[in-house]
Amino acid sequence: MSDIESLCLSGKGITKIFGIGDNKTIAVDHVDFEFHEGEIISIVGESGSGKTTFAKMLLGLISVTEGEILFQGKPRDIKSHKNRKEYWKGIQAIFQDPFSSFNVFNKVDSVLLDCINMRGGRKLPKEKKFEMMTEACSFVNLKFEELTNKYPFELSGGQMQRLMIARIFLLKPKILLADEPTSMIDACSRATILDMLLKLREETNMTIIFITHDIGLAYYVSDTVYIMEHGRFVELGEANEVILRPKADYTKRLISDVPKIYEEWDLNTI
Ligand SMILES: Nc1ncnc2c1ncn2[C@@H]1O[C@H](COP(=O)(O)OP(=O)(O)OP(=O)(O)O)[C@@H](O)[C@H]1O
Ligand SMILES: [Mg+2]
Repeated sequence: MSDIESLCLSGKGITKIFGIGDNKTIAVDHVDFEFHEGEIISIVGESGSGKTTFAKMLLGLISVTEGEILFQGKPRDIKSHKNRKEYWKGIQAIFQDPFSSFNVFNKVDSVLLDCINMRGGRKLPKEKKFEMMTEACSFVNLKFEELTNKYPFELSGGQMQRLMIARIFLLKPKILLADEPTSMIDACSRATILDMLLKLREETNMTIIFITHDIGLAYYVSDTVYIMEHGRFVELGEANEVILRPKADYTKRLISDVPKIYEEWDLNTI
């Protein structure tokens, strides 16, 4: 497959400016990017560097001040509500705070049923829907029977994160955007969740975009890394290349904050 054919999401000169005059913030400043099918990309940068703003533009949750985003090689048209809904079948997100991602008045089964309906399964027999929900829960090591009558706020942080992945399992978007998905959970569940996401990519060839402060995580999971500083991509490329042989001073500084990578690096180079 050629590069163009596998192009999933791309953009040139993408910019977001909040406010006007003295209150102006250039949150994302003329960034170029090309994400391909099945690629795992990490966007790494310090707090305030523009990561979430960039993610929100990709999702179409906020407008783009300048530049154009292409979805599967074509200009994205999400002006109408109908087109936006269609676009969101292709791109889904897991956010920093899972509590904000669910409607608090919807029980777990209706959260999952919504996903089946969104994928055109509204008319499927009840038993089939039950089977799909059970399968999605077991994919993330949750027991559907134990959750079915609960509201999302009755779940633990880790269970909620896993429920979000179960939703993605049912929705099967082309692109998954995960903004600090593992910040709420301990290191052990974190590894499990990352492995689930990687498994999902194996099964569906999903493109996964991770947004994180953690360059160690980027090294572990991604094919490609984009380093973001003050709204710009100061360095990008193959994860090994960028992290083991960083060129930009900013990348070097991010790496020096994570002694673990240096240890791995030493082991790899002995
Ligand atoms: N709605 C908004 N109105 C005005 N300024 C905003 C808005 N959203 C974000 N900003 C500003 O844009 C800049 C980038 O913010 P953003 O949330 O994208 O950073 P981030 O890299 O996601 O940070 P963190 O790692 O802390 O989540 C910041 O200076 C922030 O104050
Ligand atoms: Mg953020």
